[in-house]
Order: sequence, then structure tokens, then C-alpha cells
Amino acid sequence: MSLADAPPLSLHPAAPKATTTLRRLHVITWGCQMNVYDSGRMADVLAPLGYTAATSAADADMVILNTCHIRERATDKVFSELGRLRVIKDERAAAGKTTILAVAGCVAQAEGAEITARAPYVDIVLGPQTYHRLPEMVARAHRAAGPVIETDFPVEQKFDFLPAAPADQDQAVTAFLTVQEGCDKFCSFCVVPYTRGAEASRPAASVLAEARGLVRRGAREITLLGQNVNAYHGAGMDGAVWGLGRLVRALAEIPNLLRIRYMTSHPRDMADDLIAAHAEVPALMPFLHLPVQSGSDRMLTAMNRRHTADDYRRLIDRLRTARPDLALSSDFIVGHPGETTADFDATMRLIRDIGFAQAFSFKYSARPGTPAAGAPGAVPEAEKDARLVALLALLRDQQDDFNARSVGLEFDVLVTGPGRRPGQIAGRSPYLQAVHMDGPESLVGQVVPVKVRQLLTNSLTATLNFPAFKQERARA
Ligand code: 5AD
Ligand code: SF4
Repeated sequence: MSLADAPPLSLHPAAPKATTTLRRLHVITWGCQMNVYDSGRMADVLAPLGYTAATSAADADMVILNTCHIRERATDKVFSELGRLRVIKDERAAAGKTTILAVAGCVAQAEGAEITARAPYVDIVLGPQTYHRLPEMVARAHRAAGPVIETDFPVEQKFDFLPAAPADQDQAVTAFLTVQEGCDKFCSFCVVPYTRGAEASRPAASVLAEARGLVRRGAREITLLGQNVNAYHGAGMDGAVWGLGRLVRALAEIPNLLRIRYMTSHPRDMADDLIAAHAEVPALMPFLHLPVQSGSDRMLTAMNRRHTADDYRRLIDRLRTARPDLALSSDFIVGHPGETTADFDATMRLIRDIGFAQAFSFKYSARPGTPAAGAPGAVPEAEKDARLVALLALLRDQQDDFNARSVGLEFDVLVTGPGRRPGQIAGRSPYLQAVHMDGPESLVGQVVPVKVRQLLTNSLTATLNFPAFKQERARA
């Protein structure tokens, strides 16, 4: 999962009911795509209360800080941001305006009441499983003498209680859709099983209904999200339990849904049917994020990943047989407790063997409460740094090489919006590369064939392959 901090999310204004008071909401989103999705849904939940998008925290009657706990010093970062928001809240109070300050996401789940103990000006602390209860929490915050803290894992499924997004809400060409949450894998280093709880899958009917709504509002590409998305096992419409492959096939039937992706996956959950879907479903994009973390069997065991490096190699072979143009992305951790130079060399070997189009690499950082946090064999910081530098250099070379090999290729691009210059449009390749080309804005939302001309620093330039232009799937 990409952990690049997302910029503050700009929320789509939703039409308030005539009877509601107009209020402004500002959501600051850190962490993974799941948080980006959650932030959108929190805005949807609050829309019926009259909340529309604010341009900044200073302009907002309610600010939600949606946090990520995966990195070291995550909590410090939250308190530092809260200090900044406190100043804004105080300034607004001096002008006679109230501001509700809420902390959501995984730090909220992990720290709970500790947040309001250290920052008493915070009104609401809510875990990722409770945001369907936000309206009630806001009402309580308005009347309460003390803070509202909701970090239990409720028995009800939040997805059963979330309102559909307003039919007239703007929707970008690309969308996220959470289908599964939580994780039962308990990798040694990871907080997710503790912050997001046990694995739970949404029923297929609910996923399909949300996908149809997204497409009706303009989405053409949907990325299915889950902490362990390929462990999806939702109730199907036929009474059977559906795996992700089955779900992807059903989604591919939705007219005008041109592209489907999913992330993040675990190698152990790559079921035969999902691999087959890569061969059989054209809308399933040939780009897969499949974290391996390490190429050393010793480390994979220590990490409780429950597969070997050769299992991963064999899996990639099967996927590439199913879909020869498949490109891969992965996550790597260097310096997990006990990692020797030989273990690290095994990771470098695996990377050379597979060849990645993209990757996210992390220095191991101890997360309190996880098994690895107390494990012996800590790797010195300087050694971790050195390994990370070497790993990044190799992965950077592979990424540069992959992008360079795109030049001269012909592939389909989903046009996502206008480009930087007038007359230009922007889109994304099957491999999520940014592509710029000359063309009319009327193509936004369509898949167009292009020829790649040039590799720039962070994008490709291309020309439209007219007159061959066609819609990728006119099978409405
Ligand atoms: N230290 C370093 N990296 C971590 N990740 C998760 N937990 C840790 C940790 N404690 C990385 C893994 C995972 C990605 C989302 O973040 O590579 O796949
Ligand atoms: Fe964390 Fe491992 Fe679950 Fe991924 S599979 S969320 S790394 S415990």
C-alpha cells in the first residue's frame, strides 16, 4: 500500500437538506488509500447534517484528522498537528465560532483516551470501525461536557450503516472502493491486525451497488481496497462465499466500468480463480501490488509471512503465464530484527530475479505491541540506512528501466482530466504511469489508444493513436 501522505482531501460539496444548518468540514488525510476512502465516507456520513467542504481548517466548523499508525513517531506527528489545529480552534473561538476537532484512523484506535488526556481540546476520538456513528458523536460533542471516545470494534458492520453518496456528487474518473478490512495474518512487524481488527468482507451485493453508484457518477476505474484484499470472502448473491476473483468478474460486467484494480494483497491469498481472472478479465489491469517484504526464507519465517522466497517466485511465474504483460510492485522492509547481510543479499537477489516496475521500501521500525518489537537481533540504524540505500538504488534502476521501455509502446490510457497546458489531457497507463498528450477534454473518462513518445521525470508523453481511437469496452 502506498504510504505517501496524501494531501488534505478536498471533499465534494454535497447538497444539504433544506432544513439543515450549513456547516463546513475539513478532513486532513494521512496514510494509505484506505484512509483516503474512509475520509470520503466520513464526509458522506456528515453530508446529511449539512456539512460541506471547507477550503481550510480555519474555515471549518469541524476538522477531522484521519491518522496513520504504520510508521515510527506516528503519534508525535499527530500531537504536533493537533497543536497547530488548537491554535486555529482558539482563534475561531475568540471570533465566537465553535470548532469540533476529531481524530480518526489508526492512531485514534491505538491511543484512544490518551489523545484527549494529552490534548483536552480534542472533542472526538474515533476508530476506523466506528465512523458510521459520526452524526451521533457530533451531537454528543455539541452537548457533552467531556470528549467523545469511540474506539471499540462494534458488533455491527459499519458498511451496513453508511449512506450512499449523493447521486449528484462529483466523482473523479478514478475511485477507491473498500471491500475488505482488517487482517488475520499477524506479520511480526505490523500493527494492522490490532488497529483495524479481524478480517471482515463486505457482501458482494453491497460492493456491486456502491460500484454501480460510482460509475453512474462518472468513475471509470475502481481500485478495490483492503488491508488484505485478496483474502476477500464476502457473501455472494447466490448464497455462496465469493472470493476476490468472483467479485472482480461480477464487477467487470458493470457497463462503463473500464478498469479494475485491487490492493493490497498477500501472496498466500492469491487463489487460482483470482490468477485465472488476470487471464480472463480484460478490465483487470495488468499491474499488481504484491508485497513480499524480504527475499530471505529466514526473515520470511521471522516475519510470520508463511511462504518462502521460491513460493513467491513460482507465484509470479504463474501470474505472468496468465497475463504476460503483468508488471509488479511490492513492499520491502530492511533491518527487521535478526536480518543479516546474507538475508539482505537474498532480498536483492529476489528483486533481480523478479524485476519490479515500482516498489515501496521501508526501514524496519518497532511498533509497540507487535511481536517483532521485543525480538532480539536489532539491526543498527546505520546498517539499516546502508541497506535501504542499496535497495532503493536497485529498485530505482528497475523502475527507470521499466519506464524507459514504455517509450515507443502502444497502450491504452484512461483519460482522467485536463493536462498542464491548454489543449493537453492527462491520464494513466495500465501501469499507473502518468501520461500527458495533446487532445480534447471531451475524451476525459474514456480509454484511448496512444503511442508513448518520451519519458519525462515523472511522466510519459504520448500521442493519440487516431484514427484507431475507440472506446476500450463499448460493451455497455
Ligand atoms: N516497519 C517498517 N515497515 C513496515 N510496514 C508495516 N509495518 C512496518 C514496520 N513496523 C510496511 C510493510 C507493509 C507496508 C504497508 O508498510 O512493508 O507492506
Ligand atoms: Fe500487516 Fe501482514 Fe496483515 Fe499486511 S498481511 S496488513 S503486513 S499483518
